[in-house]
Amino acid sequence: MPYYPQELIEEIREKNDILDVIGSRVKLKKQGSYYFGLCPFHHEKSPSFAVTPSNQMFYCFGCHESGNVVSFVMKYENYTFTEAVQMLAERANIKLPEIRYTEEMRREADKRERLMEIVYEAEKYFYHQLRSKDGELGKKYLTDRALTEETMQHFGLGYSLQYSNDLVRYLKHKGYDDELIRESGLGIFYEREGMTDKFINRVMFPIQNIHDKVIGFGGRVMGDAKPKYLNSPESEIFEKRKNLYGLNYARVSRKDNFILCEGYMDVIALHQAGFNQAVASLGTAFTPEQAMLLKRFSKNVLLAYDSDGAGVNAALKALAILSEMDINGRVIDMRPYKDPDEFIKNLGAEEFQKRIDHAENGFLFEVRQRRAEYVIDAEHPDNKAAFARDVATMLCRFEEEIERESYLTSVSEQYGIDAGQLRKAVISLAGRDAGNKKILNLRTKDDSDREIKAKKEEGAAAAAAKAQRLLLNWLAKRPELFDHIGEDITEEDFTDPLYRVVAGKLFDQIVAGKVTPVSIMDGFEDKEDQRRVGEIFFTEIGGPEREGLMQSEEISPEDKAKAFHDVIVNIKKNSIEKLAAESGSSMESLDKLLKAKRTLQVLETKKYTI
Ligand code: UTP
Ligand code: MN
Repeated sequence: MPYYPQELIEEIREKNDILDVIGSRVKLKKQGSYYFGLCPFHHEKSPSFAVTPSNQMFYCFGCHESGNVVSFVMKYENYTFTEAVQMLAERANIKLPEIRYTEEMRREADKRERLMEIVYEAEKYFYHQLRSKDGELGKKYLTDRALTEETMQHFGLGYSLQYSNDLVRYLKHKGYDDELIRESGLGIFYEREGMTDKFINRVMFPIQNIHDKVIGFGGRVMGDAKPKYLNSPESEIFEKRKNLYGLNYARVSRKDNFILCEGYMDVIALHQAGFNQAVASLGTAFTPEQAMLLKRFSKNVLLAYDSDGAGVNAALKALAILSEMDINGRVIDMRPYKDPDEFIKNLGAEEFQKRIDHAENGFLFEVRQRRAEYVIDAEHPDNKAAFARDVATMLCRFEEEIERESYLTSVSEQYGIDAGQLRKAVISLAGRDAGNKKILNLRTKDDSDREIKAKKEEGAAAAAAKAQRLLLNWLAKRPELFDHIGEDITEEDFTDPLYRVVAGKLFDQIVAGKVTPVSIMDGFEDKEDQRRVGEIFFTEIGGPEREGLMQSEEISPEDKAKAFHDVIVNIKKNSIEKLAAESGSSMESLDKLLKAKRTLQVLETKKYTI
């Protein structure tokens, strides 16, 4: 798969210290020989993301993501393998050889790379069509919508011709096969017509990832036909939940906030009016992944969702996600207009800036929406109390008293609810509802503790796997222990299929005299496999676990020997159980089983000196 020789990739990895690379993206703090920080791959409040410079790996105890410097960059930057290698090479001033693609390389290239390529071809094609004679209709449509030539170019807008199969034919001519065309979503296969263009007679909005690379398209009809927009389907490169339209520009906008809108046209109109911090989700609801992405650049997000009912509901959902991620959410009031595009057209940029300056706090927006659900007047005396109860429940979300009090005061003033009574209601709710106990500081353990505990309640299979994992971990740390094993335990005794492969490789490395867990991990292509291999060599940091035991100076040699003995016996027993379950009536398997049982008897009484 990689275009570059393995030695070159090794060199690139060696010259990019994982601590520097991760450290420039995640704030890390030294703790012993490890560095901890908040995991960039899942949302958390206390650090469980570890980097170990000694073996140049990272591991997260929360989400179990793990890997080396290359896989970190791939995951963090959403790069393909080749892109990650190129970025790191540049960083280390290593010159990469020019890749000359042969037909064969192209065929065998990573699927993501090939998808990026074909989508890029399509973008150039659409772009060209909009500016050709055939694209006049599209050009007129965009011009009528007040987009300047410069804006169209900036966003790479294009046009898909009215004659079906134009693009498909072009792509095939360029050598792309049906399968890739289908997977990219650019073509749809019909029984009768064969491969057919997906986008026909639409203005095309290329969707770029954060690195300015096109990953998909939105195509709009130039009239009232339905559907208004067609979007590229999800693919390996087009992950709607992980990308935002306009973010490649917005992240370098030098503004201290983002403006989150609903539509492509809103983003474009805002950028044209100077609000180049505008982004939009990709025809789907706003996601936590997108929130994490935004948070890397700014903790302030202004919502510019449609001012209709659907828009308000979408805004409430987005606000909930933002607040969960500790991002400041505020809401821009666009009334009497529907969306930013219309607003700018009618009232202009200056007026919009005023709306930004007066954007409503997300919590207060939510309270106001809740208030609108009640009719509060002399004929409905109960409703006011009901609304106050709702507000009290909502206030329970704030863990910090100062914050909670400031909202409490503000709401009580705005809606004429007695502050003292509201406070009483909050306290009583907090005491009753276990979920709100944190307010009264009744919560003793935090979520991560509970997770660790849950993980400890492992089943028998997991326990067996754990013994296998421990042995591999110990052997990697202290290869000389391998001498104690001899023929007693072989790779076949590892019942977990993945651990068996790892054992084979590790044993080979021990015999050869050079143990490098990173290279073992690299041998696995599958992400989940990589993660599990990372776990084997990493979990030593988990205090209560036993992985660190062999190196610990606080543990006596006798106790170490005992632990080693137990793990060996455990593995052998488990291996025998599996043999017994599998052995049919063949003499051969019976022999094997009996031999293993004899070994176990010996092992059980064996004394180790460690
Ligand atoms: P809007 O209907 O608000 O579209 O839908 P818009 O971007 O403002 O476009 P104009 O101004 O009407 O031309 C918001 C977003 O929802 C998705 C698109 O991502 C769109 O930008 N959408 C909408 C679809 O995916 N399909 C549709 O049929 C409609
Ligand atoms: Mn619109």
